Amino acid sequence: METVLQVKDLTKLFRQGRGEAVTAVDRVSFSVHKNEVVGLLGPNGAGKTTTIKCIAGLIKPTSGEIWLDGVEALRHPKKAMERVAALLEGNRNIYWRLTPRENLEFFVGLQGHTVGKVRGYIDELIELFDLKEKHRTPARKLSRGMQQKLALACALVRQTEVLLLDEPTLGLDVETSYELRHVLKQMAAQGERTILLSSHDMHVVQDICERVIIVNNGRVVVDDRVTNLMKLFQVSAYRFELEGPLGEEQELRLKELFPLLEVSATGHRTYIDADLKDGTQLYEVLEILKDGSAQIKSIGHKEPNLEEIFLTIVKGQLK
Ligand SMILES: Nc1ncnc2c1ncn2[C@@H]1O[C@H](COP(=O)(O)OP(=O)(O)O)[C@@H](O)[C@H]1O
Ligand SMILES: [Mg+2]
Repeated sequence: METVLQVKDLTKLFRQGRGEAVTAVDRVSFSVHKNEVVGLLGPNGAGKTTTIKCIAGLIKPTSGEIWLDGVEALRHPKKAMERVAALLEGNRNIYWRLTPRENLEFFVGLQGHTVGKVRGYIDELIELFDLKEKHRTPARKLSRGMQQKLALACALVRQTEVLLLDEPTLGLDVETSYELRHVLKQMAAQGERTILLSSHDMHVVQDICERVIIVNNGRVVVDDRVTNLMKLFQVSAYRFELEGPLGEEQELRLKELFPLLEVSATGHRTYIDADLKDGTQLYEVLEILKDGSAQIKSIGHKEPNLEEIFLTIVKGQLK
């Protein structure tokens, strides 16, 4: 498989006056194959935006290498920039006074293509993002959701080898967020674009991406296919439902055995969520519960979702 984006030992320190430097990105390495759609997932402050800005050539890394389709970006920034388009969080890279079509034509020109050759694709994007009826409206008068759709269309229309999307659905209303996700999902299914998409929302990543790179505190903690991650967790997520409260001592004993175990209660019901490796561990939990007054009502296998997987991993890192 052809690698079109490779990040090697990327590190970025921000210095703030005389204070200590913040390590926003800490020796991050990963690669993305042609036509792969990869999610960069992590809590706020994890270093996602900084990573993306470095790849997009908007900030200079402290050290490391970035390769875009065989071009070392830090040595040949101009050449590298032809290979990448970015949609940045909060910064809608569109021209306020231009209409949607004019914006798209502008970005086509920027890429050095002639508008005539890609008119069909421009029409397709206008259709896809539902910008048709607004074709005479300057971008500044569009709704925030429309502006975001247009910004994404402007990044797409350049038809670069790599597309970077930083929190593409952040702050959008439910409907626009859904529409954007739908379009991105279709694009991923067609397998004709190489996309690195960052989000702190696992649902977005789970929905769109085939592979996920989880970052925390500037470091990569997981790099795997989404389906593998789900499988890994599938066998181990259990939920115990109890009638009555869990004794304090029991809770302590359980948490000593399983630091990530969670206890919650609604009314008379107590729920214990635990990741257990095998039957022996299940037995250990039962041994502890048996000493208390609460009755076990049921033990179920929980369907994992990426959110829980993500939280488990991130919590594990903080220990
Ligand atoms: N321009 C900057 N100056 C100083 N610190 C920064 C700057 N940009 C980001 N940071 C810090 O770097 C870390 C990573 O930030 P960021 O890449 O924006 O994370 P994310 O996008 O995952 O939320 C955070 O601790 C943030 O405060
Ligand atoms: Mg960010």
